[in-house]
Amino acid sequence: MDRLVVRGGRPLSGTVEISGAKNAVLPLMTAALMVDGETTLKRVPNLKDTRTMIRLLDIVGAGVSFDAGEMSIDGSTVNNLEAPYDLVKTMRASFYVLGPLLARFGKVRVSLPGGCAWGPRPVDFHLKGLEKLGAKITLEGGYILAEADRLKGNKICFDFPSVGATGNIVMAGVLAKGETVIENAAREPEIVQLCEALNTMGAKIDGIRTDKIIIEGVDQLHSADLDVIPDRIEAGTYLIAGAAMGDITLNYCNPKHLEVLIEKLIQAGAKIDTSENSISIKKANSINPTDVTTEVYPGFPTDLQAQWIVLMAIATGSSVVTDTVYHDRFTHIPELNRLGANIKLRDNIAIINGVDHLIGAPVMSTDIRASASLILGAIMAKGQTDISRVYHIDRGYESIEKKFQALGVDIVRKND
Ligand code: EPU
Repeated sequence: MDRLVVRGGRPLSGTVEISGAKNAVLPLMTAALMVDGETTLKRVPNLKDTRTMIRLLDIVGAGVSFDAGEMSIDGSTVNNLEAPYDLVKTMRASFYVLGPLLARFGKVRVSLPGGCAWGPRPVDFHLKGLEKLGAKITLEGGYILAEADRLKGNKICFDFPSVGATGNIVMAGVLAKGETVIENAAREPEIVQLCEALNTMGAKIDGIRTDKIIIEGVDQLHSADLDVIPDRIEAGTYLIAGAAMGDITLNYCNPKHLEVLIEKLIQAGAKIDTSENSISIKKANSINPTDVTTEVYPGFPTDLQAQWIVLMAIATGSSVVTDTVYHDRFTHIPELNRLGANIKLRDNIAIINGVDHLIGAPVMSTDIRASASLILGAIMAKGQTDISRVYHIDRGYESIEKKFQALGVDIVRKND
């Protein structure tokens, strides 16, 4: 099993190119299943999750080719309307096949994802939304069976603006008969990208970027060429590294997707310059303790909560980080404390007492973003840190050790 070995304490300098967004490309790949033809995607990150989604598309019968960041998906050969447990349990985003296959073929069988490393993560909004569109949903042997001759538009109001449920219902609504209105919809850039991509494919979606999405159903979608937006969470992770240790520039990123993070980094003492698609950051002389509460977009993203905590671990005082999106997403805290951080957890609130420096130690990854925080901790720490179970990080960060090596970090991957 791969591990990463980091000798920390070195300054970061240079430029890093941000990859296409994991959480944008995964629903785009399943949207391609709604087309009786070929969809091409550019700037597709080569990630474990992208490859898992390729396996899933292959299982349902779509033809996929993927080379040098370019992917083509042929939805004309889809012939197996099932997402098996083996894949769904390793990647919850597999659930994104539900809406598209049901809408196009009138039937789909998808394994229920089950629990996740940091909590239950239910899918009730997805299922209730599809029922509102006229689907008959049954549970058999751990699988959801959804059936409908043709979905019918309806009004759906989510209790919480779920990203995944919004994506699934938008995709289902696009091929439903009549008008679908989603209230309290997610507005994350990845949802905006999905809606705009679907419109390029012939859908009629209005209210994009707002919490009320209005869809006029169409009979079919057509082929399209799509560009994946930059990964704001990958960009945010490098920015946080820069705030602690660097003088670095991020290219191919979208500063507009990172406004709250940039504001917080400036409060923490970093110096930042932005242009249309790049961000430069110089480290703070000392890190000011800066509280953060995660919220849905445009608030501070939960996917950067773990990375923010590690920056606060070396701040000059105490700070508080609250996660309102996922109340249990804190598996990184005991590992960061192994690096000498002083973090206490009370319910969904982390109380961080800044320490002078972190010290290298063996630590273990538990999920994608927790692993990212451990790498950041290792880069900031004095001495050597061994990070095990790095397959978690490979799910969501393209070539992470190569990108950090190019910035001057002493980081190597070992397999022994
Ligand atoms: N929720 C429900 N019922 C549902 C769906 C969601 O109660 O049916 C709750 C969740 O339990 C959670 C909240 O709603 O408390 C938000 O969950 P959401 O559905 O928005 O999350 P998701 O779609 O499962 C996506 C990203 C996550 C990211 C969240 C929040 C993808 C593939 N995943 O998950 O990304 O944390 O939105 O922004 O887009 C990651 O990349 O590391 C990651 C976990």
